[in-house]
Amino acid sequence: MPSTYLVTGASRGIGAELVRQLASRGDRPLATLRPPASPPPGAVRTLPLEITDQASIDALARSLEGSPLDVLINNAGVSSQSATLALTTGEELARCFAINATSPVMVAKALLPNLRAGSRRLVVNISTQLASIANNSGGSSYGYRASKTALNQLTVCMANELRTDGFTVVAMHPGWVKTDMGGPKAPLSAEQAVAHILATVDRLTPADSGRFLNYDGGPMPW
Ligand SMILES: NC(=O)c1ccc[n+]([C@@H]2O[C@H](COP(=O)([O-])OP(=O)(O)OC[C@H]3O[C@@H](n4cnc5c(N)ncnc54)[C@H](OP(=O)(O)O)[C@@H]3O)[C@@H](O)[C@H]2O)c1
Repeated sequence: MPSTYLVTGASRGIGAELVRQLASRGDRPLATLRPPASPPPGAVRTLPLEITDQASIDALARSLEGSPLDVLINNAGVSSQSATLALTTGEELARCFAINATSPVMVAKALLPNLRAGSRRLVVNISTQLASIANNSGGSSYGYRASKTALNQLTVCMANELRTDGFTVVAMHPGWVKTDMGGPKAPLSAEQAVAHILATVDRLTPADSGRFLNYDGGPMPW
């Protein structure tokens, strides 16, 4: 029985590859992107979404009203434009928090009725190893690191609140991946990373809810 997935940020990178692999194995990927980006190959439906715009999130929810959704993958994200404290601005921190932390929660909230009607009640928040406070020995990328750390905290909040409703909510590091964000030196291709991510997603159960996972399913340090 094919499952319906909604993948945000599917115009390129990991999101586009998630859609491609989901379609090629027979699942039903719904792709969100910011016009005028082209639909990724395999999307059964493409929906416009600017994740920092509540009106855009509300429009997404309206267009999916009554449609069950099995899995939400909050993938859209941005990295920091500045690395050091000297270069970090309030605007830059706010931009990272809006896109990487606030928006995934607002999208999940808007699509809760669809997820409740689905078969897995699963939300995967794409985080990063750079969100780990325990592993932070390098500083840099203040906005990116801190906003994804906030996403991890919000993931645990959602996991705890929604546990009794049978939801599974996890944060996942997708690997260091050759994309516009990951750059050419990354060890994993998008194809390789997404194959691992989907294998891990397939194995998730409510017992995993609230965990911070590596793309291969191993635990990530908080
Ligand atoms: N690549 C890595 O090595 C790596 C490592 C750790 C974590 N991650 C995480 O993995 C996820 C995907 O990364 P990626 O490497 O595929 O990045 P990417 O190639 O830069 O793609 C980012 C995606 O997010 C979308 N997006 C950004 N801001 C948005 C907004 N305001 N509204 C709607 N969509 C927006 C982009 O849409 P547009 O095309 O319209 O800009 C694009 O589809 C991100 O959450 C990232 O933090 C990546």
